[in-house]
Amino acid sequence: MKLIADKVGYQYFRKDKKLLFELQETSFEAKEGKITEIVGHSGSGKSTLLNICAGLLTPSSGKIIAGDTSLYDLSDEARSKFRNKNIGIIPQGQSVLKHLTVTENILLPVSMYGIEYSVELLDELIEKLGLKKLAGESAGGLSGGEMRRVAIARALVGKPEIILADEPTGDLDSDNRKLVLTSLKEIADAGAAVLMVTHDKEAEEYADEILRMDGGRLI
Ligand SMILES: Nc1ncnc2c1ncn2[C@@H]1O[C@H](COP(=O)(O)OP(=O)(O)OP(=O)(O)O)[C@@H](O)[C@H]1O
Ligand SMILES: [Mg+2]
Repeated sequence: MKLIADKVGYQYFRKDKKLLFELQETSFEAKEGKITEIVGHSGSGKSTLLNICAGLLTPSSGKIIAGDTSLYDLSDEARSKFRNKNIGIIPQGQSVLKHLTVTENILLPVSMYGIEYSVELLDELIEKLGLKKLAGESAGGLSGGEMRRVAIARALVGKPEIILADEPTGDLDSDNRKLVLTSLKEIADAGAAVLMVTHDKEAEEYADEILRMDGGRLI
């Protein structure tokens, strides 16, 4: 499923209503079977753009089209459902729920909306991302890198057709970085559209297309 950003813009305002940051009209496509990367300085608007693509932040203008669906023309509920079924999100910040186990965290989006998943894929992801020993443990005790790997397994277990990854290799060592990048590459090769924000030079080698953001503008 292709993801199209069509002239999306966004403004953050300060409490006194002064403009704090503007994402300027941005258009691009993340194609099926490809890894599209967004690079750029801190604060240039990469996460803002990714959150808009994910259906999590309503743009001030423009459209996001995933497959045949215009995300922000859906009701909130329909959009959440669509997102959970079709879009796997690896957020930049910490996103695991600490009172759930590792496995429960991984299955959270699929169980929430009754989306089908295969136990084989679940086991494969747990194994591949080095989480086997931790599967039944509470996520509260995990290291930052382990939490990140849980978030990655969670984004992939429902076999989404679009993957949005915000610095997926952020707090990982070199072995785990490679593992995550190869996993994303495999998913793209299987036909998913992967859109990844990164500062990781190594990640750029995996990109089919690189987009640069500078000061809220895609260049
Ligand atoms: N909720 C918010 N309210 C106000 N301003 C915000 C909010 N979120 C982000 N911003 C501002 O918008 C700008 C872009 O933020 P964004 O998180 O998209 O940057 P980024 O490119 O992802 O940066 P980084 O590489 O550090 O993650 C920043 O200047 C930030 O301070
Ligand atoms: Mg960011």
